[in-house]
This record gives sequence, structure tokens and C-alpha cells, in this order.
Amino acid sequence: MVTAEAARQALADLRDAGSGRSLLDLGWLANLRLQGDRALIDLVLPGFAASQRDAIVAGVRERLVGLEGIASVQFELRDAPASPAGPSATGPTLQAIPGVRTVIAVSSGKGGVGKSTVAVNLACALAAEGLRVGLLDADIYGPNAPLMLGVADRTPAVSGSGDGQRLEPIETCGLAMVSMGLLIGPDQPVIWRGPMLNGIIRQFLYQVEWGERDVLVVDLPPGTGDAQLSLAQAVPMAGVVIVTTPQQVALQDARRGLAMFRQMGIPILGVVENMSWFSPPDLPDRRYAIFGSDGGQTLAAEAGVPLLARIPIELPVQEGGDSGRPVTLARPDSAAAVAFRDAARALSPTTAGQAA
Ligand SMILES: Nc1ncnc2c1ncn2[C@@H]1O[C@H](COP(=O)(O)OP(=O)(O)OP(=O)(O)O)[C@@H](O)[C@H]1O
Ligand SMILES: [Mg+2]
Repeated sequence: MVTAEAARQALADLRDAGSGRSLLDLGWLANLRLQGDRALIDLVLPGFAASQRDAIVAGVRERLVGLEGIASVQFELRDAPASPAGPSATGPTLQAIPGVRTVIAVSSGKGGVGKSTVAVNLACALAAEGLRVGLLDADIYGPNAPLMLGVADRTPAVSGSGDGQRLEPIETCGLAMVSMGLLIGPDQPVIWRGPMLNGIIRQFLYQVEWGERDVLVVDLPPGTGDAQLSLAQAVPMAGVVIVTTPQQVALQDARRGLAMFRQMGIPILGVVENMSWFSPPDLPDRRYAIFGSDGGQTLAAEAGVPLLARIPIELPVQEGGDSGRPVTLARPDSAAAVAFRDAARALSPTTAGQAA
């Protein structure tokens, strides 16, 4: 007859598809009892794991039925309450990064809306406020930060040896930056599965010599996938900045992204509306709403969070990205740079609030 502990251990290889972490470590298996030839299982799953529910139930059943003395499995399923500090939502073992006071992620459900542009310029604007800023490019498959910060040809140094090896961030534009783009060739594709992605994001958080940082800005890839989950389940975050463009399709995806972080109990710090309007250089007072109007305001109002900035479409923003000197530094007088500085200031209650 198998013991309850042995039955529990039989489930050790069941993992959250997002983070790759064991269900046992995540605390999702709240209870396991044996009663006669039945195993009684209490599962407590956070909202974002709802889509995995059937697979988890099947996985548990498959592993237990057939163990000596277990003929059937009975499940009690509960939803974990989402709360900002709730370990149930983000896993019981959030781990702060030594020396890093505040972590702010920049995200959106949609690709190409300017997340990386916002992350890089926000980081520069926060640094211009006198903060010590790190930038983690968590877009492992499509890293852009090295190009945007003019360091695509640099290779970070590695210190220490064996398990104690640590990566030194690249210092550029007043920031300390780490990106997958620094570790692979510019045209080399990255082909990894979810759990490996989780591993590299954790390495970028904990095996990088970040030093003393008031803020670490994390540039996330598009979507609501493994990178978002891995980050949220690893490190305590002050919150997320959601980037959207004004039109409905972008809004729809941004809403999805926002809802995902809410479900995980991560605060939404505000919305940045990018590509809000275009003013021709020869008619600077004219504003063309190429992608529609007020989407960012709508999203912010719906979510009850501030609209942190509206960034116009400007040639210097795109040039700044491609030339490796962000518009905030290259053209501090431009409307976009002013808007990025406003956004950084709007975030100062968060960055100052977390400071020691
Ligand atoms: N306000 C703007 N004015 C002009 N060009 C912009 C603006 N915002 C972003 N761009 C340009 O649009 C392109 C896409 O921006 P970016 O790479 O920041 O988007 P992203 O959301 O990070 O994309 P991905 O989803 O691929 O990560 C870049 O070439 C960038 O320079
Ligand atoms: Mg990007």
C-alpha cells in the first residue's frame, strides 16, 4: 500500500506550463489524502492556470491510479484568490533581486506598438531623474534593446566560475542593460521551449551583477505568454506599464495583457499611449490621428489607472531607435522626449515609494 507522501512524490514532475515550475513547489496541490482505495486531491489553481486545469487533473489521475492500493482519484478544485501580495497567485517563492529596489515591467498584448521604444526611453528618462536604472530586455526571441542603445556589437563580461558565474550588464546611455541580443549573433534565431525561456529569464534576474539599482525596467515580448508568467512568478514587481496605440485592435490586445497581470495580482501602474498623432515637421501645429484617438485614455479609464503619457509619432523616435541613441537623449526638446520625461515623473511615487 502506497503512502500519501509517496503518492505526493509521484506528482513531482507535474509542472505549470508557463513557468516550468513544479505544482508541488507552487503550492497548487493543497492537500492529498488516501481513503480506502481512493486518493482525495485538493487543487488550488490561480486564475491564469485555468486553461491548464484539465491537463493537470488528467496528469494527476494518470500518475496516481495504478500506484499500489489506489483505484480512483477524487478532486476538489478551488480558485486561488488573486491578491497583490498573495503567494497563491504568483507562487510562494517570489525572490527579490539583491540591490534592486523596484521592478517595473513594460508590456502589451500586442506586437509592434512600441513597448521596446517606451521601455528604453522610460529607462533613460528615469536615469535622467537621477535614479540608478537597469534595463532587462526580456524579449528573448526578438531582442531589440542592444540596437536601440547602440551596443549591438558588445559582449558582456562574465565574472566568477562554475555555479557562481555572473554576467556583467553593459553600461550604456546611463543604464545597465542585459539582453539575449548581447549573447547571440544579430541574425541568429533563438529556438527554445517554454521551460528554457523561464530558465533564461531567471538567469537574467538573478545571475546578473545588477549592483545597486533604484529601478529595473523590464521590456517584455508581445502577448500574454511564458515570459510574462515567468517574470511575474519569479520576482516581486512594483507593477506594469501597459503600452497601447489608440486603435481598437491594439486596445483589445492591451486589455488582454492588462487583465492577465491583474489576475496575477500585479498592480497596473498606468497606460502609455504610443503613436497618438503625427505632426508633419513643416506643419508642427497640425495633428493627424493616424491610428484613431483616445484609445489610451479609454483603456486607462476602464482600468481605473493613470494615462502616463501620449507619445506622438515622430521621425526622431524611430531614428533614435535605429541609431542607438534614444530620442530622450538625442532630441530632449522633441515632443516625444518631453512625454517620456512626463511618464517617468508620473511614475516617481512608485520609484520613490520603493526606495529605502
Ligand atoms: N512614437 C513613435 N514614433 C515613431 N516611430 C516609433 C514610435 N514608437 C515606435 N516607433 C517605431 O516602431 C517600431 C516598433 O517599435 P518597438 O520595437 O518599440 O515595438 P514593440 O512593441 O517593442 O515591438 P515587438 O512587439 O516586436 O517587441 C520601431 O521601429 C520604432 O522605432
Ligand atoms: Mg519589443
